Amino acid sequence: MDRFSNTELRTERCILRPWRNADIPLIPPLADTRDISWNTSFRFPNPYDEKAAQRMVEWSRDGAGVNVWQFALVAGGELAGGIGTTRNSDVETHTANVGYWLGTRFWGKGLASEALAELVRYMREETDVEQLTATSFGWNPGSRRVLEKCGFSLEGVRKGVVRKWGRTTDLWIYGQVLKTERPAALD
Ligand SMILES: CC(C)(COP(=O)(O)OP(=O)(O)OC[C@H]1O[C@@H](n2cnc3c(N)ncnc32)[C@H](O)[C@@H]1OP(=O)(O)O)[C@@H](O)C(=O)NCCC(=O)NCCS
Repeated sequence: MDRFSNTELRTERCILRPWRNADIPLIPPLADTRDISWNTSFRFPNPYDEKAAQRMVEWSRDGAGVNVWQFALVAGGELAGGIGTTRNSDVETHTANVGYWLGTRFWGKGLASEALAELVRYMREETDVEQLTATSFGWNPGSRRVLEKCGFSLEGVRKGVVRKWGRTTDLWIYGQVLKTERPAALD
């Protein structure tokens, strides 16, 4: 935890750093919109109030640097969103799942792709995670483009398994191998 709490990842325009308590009041003005949560699991709530923000910041610290690598994404000196990975469970603990979101006014500038590329590098070079997983709802082609630009490959599509607020769509499954020296998969 101590080592992770000092982690700061930098790209040309973004800083990725652990969440702080001071971020809590800044999160709902960015996150409290269905424009974002239409594209996320129910873990990213709507409405998104300060209590939800506090729960997220506390959750991001539980197992930080061991099972959880969650970052505030800062752009131009402002909190712009969040990005991170969480170790998968059971037989998949050598893998971690990626998630990211930006406040809508930060969309369309290439920030998610820039931040995700750096997160992938960090996970490859600084952690024991061998493989990344990610998912995207069928109605979210922009997120798939971000994944593909950052080296993820489409592994399959689960038809009609997502239902959110009365609408149903497919779940696109993505993956990326980080460590080539990992044990080979058996059939
Ligand atoms: C997904 C999200 C993080 C993207 O952030 P962003 O900073 O705007 O993304 P980028 O600008 O880095 O890249 C978006 C890419 O998708 C493309 N794109 C955007 N909308 C698209 C659409 N409807 N169809 C196809 N491509 C689209 C853009 O052109 C861009 O590709 P390019 O660089 O080749 O032109 C942001 O829209 C978001 O927060 N959405 C809600 C939450 C979410 O979807 N999270 C991911 C869950 S898997």
